[in-house]
Amino acid sequence: MKIVVLAGSPKGETSVTVQYVRYLEKYLSKIEFKFFHISFRIKKIERDEKAFQDIIDEVQNADAVLWAFPLYVLLVPAQYKRFIELIWERGVQDAFKDKYAAVLSTSIHFFDHTAHQYMRAICDDLEMNFSGAYSADMHDLKIPEQQKKLRLFGESFIRTVELGSTMPRHFFPIKETKLDYIPGDPPTKTDTQGRKVVIVHDAKKGQTNLLNMIKRMKSSFQHEVDVFNLHDVDIKGGCMGCLKCGQNYECAYTGKDEYIDFYNKKIKTAHILVFAGAISDRFLSSRWRLFFDRGFFNCHTPSLVNKQFAFLISGPLSQTWNIREVFDGYSQWQQSNLVDIVSDEVTSSSQLDEQISSLAERCVWNALHGYKKPITFLGVGGHKIFRDDVFSNLRFVFQADHRYFKSQDLYDFPRKKDWGASFHNVF
Ligand SMILES: Cc1cc2nc3c(=O)[nH]c(=O)nc-3n(C[C@H](O)[C@H](O)[C@H](O)COP(=O)(O)O)c2cc1C
Repeated sequence: MKIVVLAGSPKGETSVTVQYVRYLEKYLSKIEFKFFHISFRIKKIERDEKAFQDIIDEVQNADAVLWAFPLYVLLVPAQYKRFIELIWERGVQDAFKDKYAAVLSTSIHFFDHTAHQYMRAICDDLEMNFSGAYSADMHDLKIPEQQKKLRLFGESFIRTVELGSTMPRHFFPIKETKLDYIPGDPPTKTDTQGRKVVIVHDAKKGQTNLLNMIKRMKSSFQHEVDVFNLHDVDIKGGCMGCLKCGQNYECAYTGKDEYIDFYNKKIKTAHILVFAGAISDRFLSSRWRLFFDRGFFNCHTPSLVNKQFAFLISGPLSQTWNIREVFDGYSQWQQSNLVDIVSDEVTSSSQLDEQISSLAERCVWNALHGYKKPITFLGVGGHKIFRDDVFSNLRFVFQADHRYFKSQDLYDFPRKKDWGASFHNVF
C-alpha cells in the first residue's frame, strides 16, 4: 500500500508535523510513504508545471493521501491553501477522486476544529473517502500514551483502506447562488466623526460583485476611506514558521517586503476595518491567508484591539459556515468587535445596498460608543489556551508574548481569593 503525504509545513523536513508522520512511517513499516513538502516548495510547485504534475501523478497512483499540516491562524498555511487552489485551477481533481484520505495536524488546539472542517470539506469536494482526522498537540509525540493513540490512528487509517470501507460525506457540493449586484442610487453617507476606516480586499478584475460591494461600502462613509488591495502590497511569501518574532515581534521578512509596514502603519491605525473577499474553495483566497498568517509576527498578542471589524463576502457563505467561525474566532482573539458579515447571497441588489449602508452605520456607531460585544466560548477558550501555553510550554520561544501577558494581567489563573470574579473584564 502506498500513502502520499502532502506535508503542509513551510519548515519542510524539520517540521514538527512531519515527525509525527515519520513516527507512523516507522511503525507501519509495510506501508510505503511518499512525502511531498508542499508548503516548503510552493513557489516551485506553482511555477514549474512538472513539479506540480509529479505530485498529482503520485496521488493518482497511491492508495491514500495523508494531509499533514500545522495549524496556521485558525486554518492551514497560506502555501498549503495555494496548493489546494491549484488543484482546481489546473483541473486535476480526478486524481483525488475515490482515494482514501486522512488528516493529521499539529497545533496547540487553537481552532484546530476550523482547520479540520476546512480540510474535510476539501476532501469531500474532491470526492475522497475520508477516513479520519487526528489533531495532535505539538508536544504529544513525547508522551507514550499519545504515541499509542497515534499508532491506533495510523492502524485505523490503513484498515479503512484495506477493507475498502465507504465513508460518509459531511459536506455536499456547493450550489452557486449568483446574483449580479448592481448598486442603486448613492447611499446616505455616515459621518465617521474622525474615526479612520480602512477597507482591505483582494479583488481581481472580473469579480464584479465584490468590487461593487467595496465601492458601495466606501461611498457609505462621509469622509476619506483608505482602500488597499492585497495584490498591490508587496508580500514576498508566507510565514516560514521560523518564530524569530517570538523574542521581540520582529519578523524575518522585515525590510524584505512591504507587509510589516503595511500592517503596522495602515491596518493597526484604523478604527474600523473592513475585510472584503470572495470565497475560493472553502475559504477566502490564499492571498488573504498570507495576510492572516504573516500577521503572526505579533505572535499570540492581539494586535488589533478594540477595532470594529466588518466583512464583505462574495460567494456561497451560507454553505461555508466554517468561514463565519474563523472570522468570529479571529475577531475575539484580536479583542475586536465583529460588527457583521454581509454577503451577496441576497434576493436583490437593493437589499444588499441597504445591508451595506446599515453595516457602515453600525461600524461607526460602535466605534463612537466603544461597543464590543461580550466574548463567547471562542474567545474564552482561546484565551485560556494561549494563557496556559505562553505561561508554560511556549514561554521560552515567545518571550514577547510573555511580557505582554504579564503586563496586561492576562495570567488570570483561578486563585481562591478571586473566586466569583471573572477575567472577562480585561477584554
Ligand atoms: C504563523 C503561525 C500560526 C499559527 N497558528 C496557530 C493556530 O491558529 N492554532 C494553533 O493551535 N497553533 C497555531 N500555530 C502553532 C503551530 O500549529 C504548531 O506549532 C505546529 O506544531 C507547527 O508545526 P510544524 O513544525 O510542522 O510547522 C501557529 C504557528 C505559526 C508559526
